[in-house]
Amino acid sequence: MAAERRAEVTYVELLKEDLAIIRLVPDGGVPEYKTGQFLTIGLPIPSEKKIVRRAYSIASHPENRDYYEFVIRWVRKPLPGRVTTELFYLSAGDEVSIGEPTGTALQISDRLPGGGTDGRRVICVGGGTGIAPFIAFANHFHDTGDKREVMVLHGASYVDELSYKRMLTDLEMESKRRGEAEWNFKYRAAISRPKEFFNRSWSGHVGRVESFFKPGKSGLSPVEEMVGEKLTPDNTIVYICGYQGTIDGVIEHLGPKGFVTEHEKNPDGSFGIKFESYG
Ligand SMILES: Cc1cc2nc3c(=O)[nH]c(=O)nc-3n(C[C@H](O)[C@H](O)[C@H](O)COP(=O)(O)OP(=O)(O)OC[C@H]3O[C@@H](n4cnc5c(N)ncnc54)[C@H](O)[C@@H]3O)c2cc1C
Ligand SMILES: NC(=O)c1ccc[n+]([C@@H]2O[C@H](COP(=O)([O-])OP(=O)(O)OC[C@H]3O[C@@H](n4cnc5c(N)ncnc54)[C@H](OP(=O)(O)O)[C@@H]3O)[C@@H](O)[C@H]2O)c1
Repeated sequence: MAAERRAEVTYVELLKEDLAIIRLVPDGGVPEYKTGQFLTIGLPIPSEKKIVRRAYSIASHPENRDYYEFVIRWVRKPLPGRVTTELFYLSAGDEVSIGEPTGTALQISDRLPGGGTDGRRVICVGGGTGIAPFIAFANHFHDTGDKREVMVLHGASYVDELSYKRMLTDLEMESKRRGEAEWNFKYRAAISRPKEFFNRSWSGHVGRVESFFKPGKSGLSPVEEMVGEKLTPDNTIVYICGYQGTIDGVIEHLGPKGFVTEHEKNPDGSFGIKFESYG
């Protein structure tokens, strides 16, 4: 098993009954890690008399050495999830055990197989809590002064589950203010249950997040309308995190355009899609 250490809960924010932002500070401080990685959080489960561990994507970016941040769903159905049920009892000052940051699935591609710089447009697609690694991406690109064009797409069932709407909107406003040559960032959200009364104020994109890639009457998809050109694996790399259905849905639309995943890369080593499935 990977090395574990103790971490203290320093902040808990309930966004709603079953969605929370949690910050942890490990003993010895936050180590160096890569944007887009995840780690395991372990908690003692009373009924099982043992520590049970689950993986959680790190929503904070590695330039922030003050804490790790996570956005976590309390799993309620069909039965209460073991670790998330205990996690939702935690408050500041409590302890958990955590593993080291790990995972390469969503490591940012900075180099092309030929050795050149990967300056392609970056499109991040997060389903539900699958937005977590892309909060890390957005702040990493921002804080390192990266000049790539970055778009974050978030899908949620309900408007109050757009967990980082304020932060991502602010990053887009900053892009407008400073100009795209300095900071090129867009954020769009999709609400998949637009007819529900709670979502009555929603006037943005409707449907699951993968529908941003579905061609419309013009032949262009909503995302292509936004960027002003057809997506190709030469001009864009797409990162996806969430349900397998979300990943499959995006691939279904991008596959015919020549996009292949990192797992099934082209003979020259190139690819246009990286993903991590929570399912
Ligand atoms: C790389 C990675 C990153 C992740 N990042 C995040 C993240 O950022 N945020 C997040 O919220 N989640 C994330 N997850 C999911 C997370 O790891 C857990 O799977 C999730 O929190 C549920 O854990 P749990 O112990 O509460 O549920 P579990 O107890 O493991 O239950 C899992 C499922 O089984 C059902 N179940 C439990 N017991 C039974 C039973 N006896 N019979 C039938 N069904 C049962 C539950 O209802 C639930 O649907 C990530 C997963 C991976 C792989
Ligand atoms: N149960 C768990 O073990 C658990 C806990 C936390 C996170 N996760 C994992 O994290 C991911 C996101 O979970 P979440 O709770 O954050 O999601 P969520 O809020 O329930 O859903 C996020 C979005 O994904 C859509 N969606 C639901 N099922 C889908 C499917 N099969 N294929 C494609 N899209 C689908 C939802 O659409 P609708 O409105 O149409 O449903 C919604 O728009 C999942 O992979 C999940 O397995 C799992």
